[in-house]
Amino acid sequence: MVEECVLRQQDLVLPVFVSHDKNPVEISSMPGVYRWPLESLESQAKEWYESGIRSLAIFPKIDFSCKDDGGQEILNPSSLAYQAAASLRQLDMDFVLFADLALDPYTRHGHDGILDSQGKVDNDETVEILAKASLLCAQAGFDWVSPSDMMDGRIGVIRDLLDQNGHEDIGILSYSAKFASSYYGPFRDAIGAASASGFIDKTSYQLNPANRTQAYRELFLDFEEGADILMVKPAEPFLDIIKYASENFHLPIAAYQTSGEYSRIMAADKLGWLDGTKCALESLLSIKRAGADLIFTYFADRIIKLLQ
Ligand code: PBG
Repeated sequence: MVEECVLRQQDLVLPVFVSHDKNPVEISSMPGVYRWPLESLESQAKEWYESGIRSLAIFPKIDFSCKDDGGQEILNPSSLAYQAAASLRQLDMDFVLFADLALDPYTRHGHDGILDSQGKVDNDETVEILAKASLLCAQAGFDWVSPSDMMDGRIGVIRDLLDQNGHEDIGILSYSAKFASSYYGPFRDAIGAASASGFIDKTSYQLNPANRTQAYRELFLDFEEGADILMVKPAEPFLDIIKYASENFHLPIAAYQTSGEYSRIMAADKLGWLDGTKCALESLLSIKRAGADLIFTYFADRIIKLLQ
């Protein structure tokens, strides 16, 4: 009766990995999470839908042979992510589809942008490519584009190009306060974006976890440029930033419970040290309590069954 904060099924967005593999492949650092070939995606999506999942965020694992240093595959209209959206759309289910917009699945070096002659990420060139890719997302049937790259100025450029091409209805969920976090490791395994050493230094464009006011500025810039949803990522280590975002912007706030947040709970559960399900629920509730309206979580498909 006096419970203040309730997790609802419509709060949860399930991140989905798609690939050209023959069969579903479980990601070793993320037990219970799979990469889905397009052939099995449709039947799996029906199962998710029946369990109450309504929102999916699509992440492609691109074959290495299709990658280059410029991430040009992102501009191939028949690339994997666009095919996945098109096939989900023709299912005639009212899924909300989020496209991840960043170059890291497509570049050999695994950075979210293209590199200049000195090996530094070229912000403005990258923004141009992302904006063009946003049109392909719209054409493929995505409802939302979610720039996760952390380039400066991309929200305004993407909004303009979408509008000029008649895609005023496509929303922008901006990964606004995205920190250079060590919790992304399992995700990079999942999409095959890890460098040989397993480490990619993104500190020139992602935020320093020590910086609170810089995160505020990043949220503000994306708000001003026209983002429709602001995201904080990772989630549980940055509850203070989620709280700030929800109290200061009258926009829906999203939080991403990242791969590493998932894996640490699953690992402790496997060892018998923690109750994974209870910890997952507690973590999600904390994120909600801090002010997130929607939560990207790899637990979505299992947690949703407990909410009904
Ligand atoms: C990159 C991207 C990342 C994630 C989503 N989009 C990783 C990164 O920035 O290196 C991480 C998601 C997760 O860890 O679950 N565009």
